[in-house]
Amino acid sequence: MLSYRHSFHAGNFADVLKHSVLVHILEHLQKKEKPFCYIDTHAGAGRYVLSSEQAEKTQEYKQGIAKLWQAQDLPPMVADYVARVKCFNTQNDLQHYPGSPLIAGQCMRPQDQLFLYELHRTDVELLRTVMRHDRRVHIYHADGFKHCMGLLPPSQRRGLILIDPSYELKTDYDQVWETLLKLHKRFATGTYALWYPVVERERINQLEAKIQASTLNNIQLFELGQQADNAAWGMTASGMIVINPPWTLAAAMQLALPYLAMQLGVCAQGYYRIKQLKEE
Ligand SMILES: C[S@@+](CC[C@H](N)C(=O)[O-])C[C@H]1O[C@@H](n2cnc3c(N)ncnc32)[C@H](O)[C@@H]1O
Repeated sequence: MLSYRHSFHAGNFADVLKHSVLVHILEHLQKKEKPFCYIDTHAGAGRYVLSSEQAEKTQEYKQGIAKLWQAQDLPPMVADYVARVKCFNTQNDLQHYPGSPLIAGQCMRPQDQLFLYELHRTDVELLRTVMRHDRRVHIYHADGFKHCMGLLPPSQRRGLILIDPSYELKTDYDQVWETLLKLHKRFATGTYALWYPVVERERINQLEAKIQASTLNNIQLFELGQQADNAAWGMTASGMIVINPPWTLAAAMQLALPYLAMQLGVCAQGYYRIKQLKEE
């Protein structure tokens, strides 16, 4: 039984990083006319109301998107992301936060397709409601780790696969890597974006070591921390590991991450990491 609900966390500092990277990759894929696909293995509910009981309980968005909402000095990549979020809000009031499926849908064209997996019964119904008018979208109430395998290689031969589990199950740390290896075997030229939380640093060290020891190439890591590692605190940082990133991503992150670390860090402890995990 899954208990994680993204509605408690929507728009937090981890979403800011994840969705800024998402927008950048999808905007890059649009530069060629040829269609592409977007696969979201853990899609969530699609849209979040920030005045909901869940969001109000944690108020995590106040340390994330809310801190960027009125800013006039955003780095280009962050400005692109905030502009996308603004499309889901009226009169410049921050009331709604779009999840990855809605943001992706907004960045994609009529010829592109979205494949969304969500296992939570309530959230998959919410997702269906949110995406119901979009004919490019295919939604599955299924295990995204397992079922997305069958979609690869996609007929478009171009695409982004976002792997964004909640890590509610500790087995997720191994499963993300095993899944990535299998997916990459089927579709080696695809772009993969894997989100990870820093709760116990050792788990991320192990993941990085496995990636570095693997035969996969062309992998970059981007991490944004609110504060120094502190296992007693919970999630202090999160990161995105991107396989086959657009050539523009690292330079955009070099501008975005110092700014985000400064704005979203707690008690001036914000930090970032950019690492080329594997060369091209
Ligand atoms: C971090 S949230 C996703 C957030 C979303 N990608 C976004 O950025 O807006 C993780 C979601 O994965 C769902 N989930 C957990 N295990 C899953 C699985 N094996 N397959 C598909 N969905 C799963 C959870 O119910 C939760 O809604």
